[in-house]
Amino acid sequence: MEKKGKVVLAYSGGLDTSVAVLWLQEKGYEVITFTADVGQTVDLEAVKNKALNVGATKAYVMDLREEFLQDFIWPSLKANAMYQGTYPLNSAFSRPLIAKKLAMIAQKEGAVAVAHGCTGKGQDQVRIEVCTNALDANLKVLAPVRDWHFTREAEMEYAIEHGIPVMATADSPYSIDENMWGRSIECGALEDPWIEPPSDAFVLTVDASNAPDDAEYMEIAFEEGIPTALNGEQMDGVLLVKKLNEIGGKHGVGRIDMIEDRLVGFKSREVYECPAATILLGAHKALETLTLPKQLRNVKKDLENQYAELTYVGYWFSPLKDAIDAFVETTQKHVTGVVKVKLFKGNAVVAGMKSAQSIYDLGLATYSEGDAFDHNAAVGFIKIWGLPIKNWRQKHPQKEDLKGPEIEISCQ
Ligand code: ARG
Repeated sequence: MEKKGKVVLAYSGGLDTSVAVLWLQEKGYEVITFTADVGQTVDLEAVKNKALNVGATKAYVMDLREEFLQDFIWPSLKANAMYQGTYPLNSAFSRPLIAKKLAMIAQKEGAVAVAHGCTGKGQDQVRIEVCTNALDANLKVLAPVRDWHFTREAEMEYAIEHGIPVMATADSPYSIDENMWGRSIECGALEDPWIEPPSDAFVLTVDASNAPDDAEYMEIAFEEGIPTALNGEQMDGVLLVKKLNEIGGKHGVGRIDMIEDRLVGFKSREVYECPAATILLGAHKALETLTLPKQLRNVKKDLENQYAELTYVGYWFSPLKDAIDAFVETTQKHVTGVVKVKLFKGNAVVAGMKSAQSIYDLGLATYSEGDAFDHNAAVGFIKIWGLPIKNWRQKHPQKEDLKGPEIEISCQ
């Protein structure tokens, strides 16, 4: 058989990517696998052994949690990134990181190609390929699962024939992708938007009805847009996110159920559980309301939508994304303070906040003792503020303005 050189395969340890190892070998490639630890719950040692048992000549396993946090999660948090205002993009922004590592390993190993296990229907294929090509234009990207046209049954048969262990759980009705920013759940019963997501779809969160009857309060300290302490205790970011996933999950916080507009043209029903992301995005947004002025927040909000869109469609390495990152970074200088969050029966509600950077002025806001607002200044302000409208209406009077249903004006 013709030897084609090395290929680096993004390997999860599941059925698809295990079959892909063999399939690529049959096509003449030497297969090297790469598995990223991005905080998913999986036995990485077992994944590594499985890759080697299935026939990979080398199996890379990399702990990328810190890099994922610093270069992907925190920038997205600062940008309040949520696709369609709802999805915290946990799966979407893990793809550029995976693409980057695939390309780096490929260069190191002198590989001719990289490969992934995405199907031809999703957007992860788009993200991985667009990002890989952006970083190394010479690298070929192979997508065995998209190309081989196996049905699920044929794939299982092929696996059994070739001695690939097919776990009993392989017939899980869902397609899952998980990392420390959340868990994405697709397929099975979820495909019918009328069906409430079955309880077996969730593992990080309890149903709100089973959450504790007592609320739990937590205090999250932010420094320049990044959470640095929980309940007064300085904490490493990876641990902080892990803790928030646990505490939030216990209170049923972070379940998301949406109809999502996919990049590949159709709508799909998507379910997520993202306790830490839900808590942190809510707290961070709230702190910005206290520390940033209106005009800045308005422009930032528009850019946040662009940022989420770019992330979703695989344009992580685009110049527009870099420019938005730079803008967002300057806005975060003052986003420092403490947010109090109340967790109760599926909800995470901001219950209070304080900040040395606060531009909330009690003297101006109060209706009680200590009111420092100049009430007299309102008279002149209203006169000038309303001038253009008054002027326009005088020039273009509209007969209808004061018409309406007859009312009786009585005076007794
Ligand atoms: N719909 C989400 C996205 O496109 C999640 C994809 C998750 N992938 C999976 N294999 N379940 O970003």
